[in-house]
Amino acid sequence: VTGEHSNPSPHWRSLIERALGEAAGDPAAYHVQVATVTPGGRPANRTVVFRGFIAGTDWLCFVTDVRSQKARHVRNQPWGEVCWYLAASRQQFRLAGELALVTGDETDAALQQARQAAWTALSDRTRRQFFWPEPLLPRARPAAFEVAAPDGAQPPATFCLLVLRPTQVDHLDVGSYPHRRTVYRLQASGQWSQETVNP
Ligand SMILES: Cc1cc2nc3c(=O)[nH]c(=O)nc-3n(C[C@H](O)[C@H](O)[C@H](O)COP(=O)(O)O)c2cc1C
Repeated sequence: VTGEHSNPSPHWRSLIERALGEAAGDPAAYHVQVATVTPGGRPANRTVVFRGFIAGTDWLCFVTDVRSQKARHVRNQPWGEVCWYLAASRQQFRLAGELALVTGDETDAALQQARQAAWTALSDRTRRQFFWPEPLLPRARPAAFEVAAPDGAQPPATFCLLVLRPTQVDHLDVGSYPHRRTVYRLQASGQWSQETVNP
């Protein structure tokens, strides 16, 4: 994996991990919005579940369906942004960078392993969704949603990881007053710069 780093975790990552700790297991704390760009150049935004960081990297991992619109957008234009509001600690993180899909065709062994592990970690209820009819087509008959329990060891071709490799993180703390805002930028050296700005 080219993104593996020996640098310590960037500061923004420890702030997210701390805020998740303060959320004390609230599932809503793991819901983030991820924005993509449509082929027509318009924004498209939706809620997804944060599944953790890809091991050895600071890349955010989500799971999605290769048939989804967001997957189409990423294939066309990889730039995206995650907006994450952690309500318990009143912290907003806007993470911008390139999005990538990790499908069954992925040749990088570590990423393929991450895809396999993410599939196994899903609930049966979530796994079944990858066998539902094609998203965005007119509603199929009810029987089309009656799918057998999928094999938890074998991800289907419809299952992929959506990975965000952040290059800029904008952190806004509205739990303090006046609010505090910090922008982190990934440098060519692989180090993160940090600038305190007006909110
Ligand atoms: C609470 C919540 C969690 C969701 N989690 C995911 C998720 O982890 N992955 C995903 O692909 N869609 C998830 N969705 C559905 C997306 O918001 C969206 O409707 C779907 O992925 C289709 O989006 P698209 O057409 O832009 O690709 C979630 C929706 C909600 C309301």
